[in-house]
Amino acid sequence: MRIVLLGPPGAGKGTQAKRICETYNIPHISTGDIFRENMKNDTPLGQKAKEYMHKGLLVPDELVVEMVEERLTYEDVLSTGYGYLLDGFPRTVFQAGALCDINAKKDCELTLAINLEVPLDILIERVTNRRICPKCHETYHLKYNKPKIEGICDFDGTALYQRDDDKIETVQKRIQIYQDETMPLIEFYEDKQKIININGLQHMSDVFKDIKKVLSGVN
Ligand code: AP5
Ligand code: MG
Repeated sequence: MRIVLLGPPGAGKGTQAKRICETYNIPHISTGDIFRENMKNDTPLGQKAKEYMHKGLLVPDELVVEMVEERLTYEDVLSTGYGYLLDGFPRTVFQAGALCDINAKKDCELTLAINLEVPLDILIERVTNRRICPKCHETYHLKYNKPKIEGICDFDGTALYQRDDDKIETVQKRIQIYQDETMPLIEFYEDKQKIININGLQHMSDVFKDIKKVLSGVN
């Protein structure tokens, strides 16, 4: 199964990706998480990505595509029959074209692009109240999905943190960039008849139910 998760910042991509990957046993590849890990370890890739991410800008296409192409050669992808869930990639029409080329080299096609639809005006509230576990990447919300103990991950007891790019001005910039650069991908995948829209405004467990209904029809 080869899935792309589309949606604006705060749509619930990371939240749903975790559930989908656990249920269907495919690797969760989040380009944002990979960049954050590289920033934490101060690698050359992390240093380059930081310049863009801190301003809410997209990391240049060439860097992202090279990184994803390499990631798709890892054992967890190969051992699941070239299976993956991409969260936050592609994000530009260039990246979407590059993904088609990468898949074609493997004689494979994308199974589906799942587009989480959430009105833009509620995204800021979602993102600014988000807290994340740095260890297992579980995502919480201070109102809608609280940890059992304040500030602590339910699964591994690690202290939760807030992302640097979740400040209100940076989130606004990210939403604007989503509209300019990423929304055209909806049409890109509509033209290929590969897209399914899901109402991301429902409770997160209902969003997942809808996704499961769709995925039960594909393999
Ligand atoms: P990335 O990490 O991908 O961030 P994003 O796309 O902006 O999306 P978010 O992670 O903010 O939101 P999400 O949809 O995952 O929502 P979540 O599930 O956490 O990218 C960050 C940066 O990296 C980019 O700005 C760019 O600089 C760079 N980058 C990454 N990929 C790139 C690429 N391909 N090209 C170039 N640059 C790239 O949920 C949000 C909150 O809402 C949480 O608190 C959650 O608990 C809550 N929530 C979730 N679902 C619901 C629900 N149904 N109801 C109520 N609350 C909910
Ligand atoms: Mg995310």
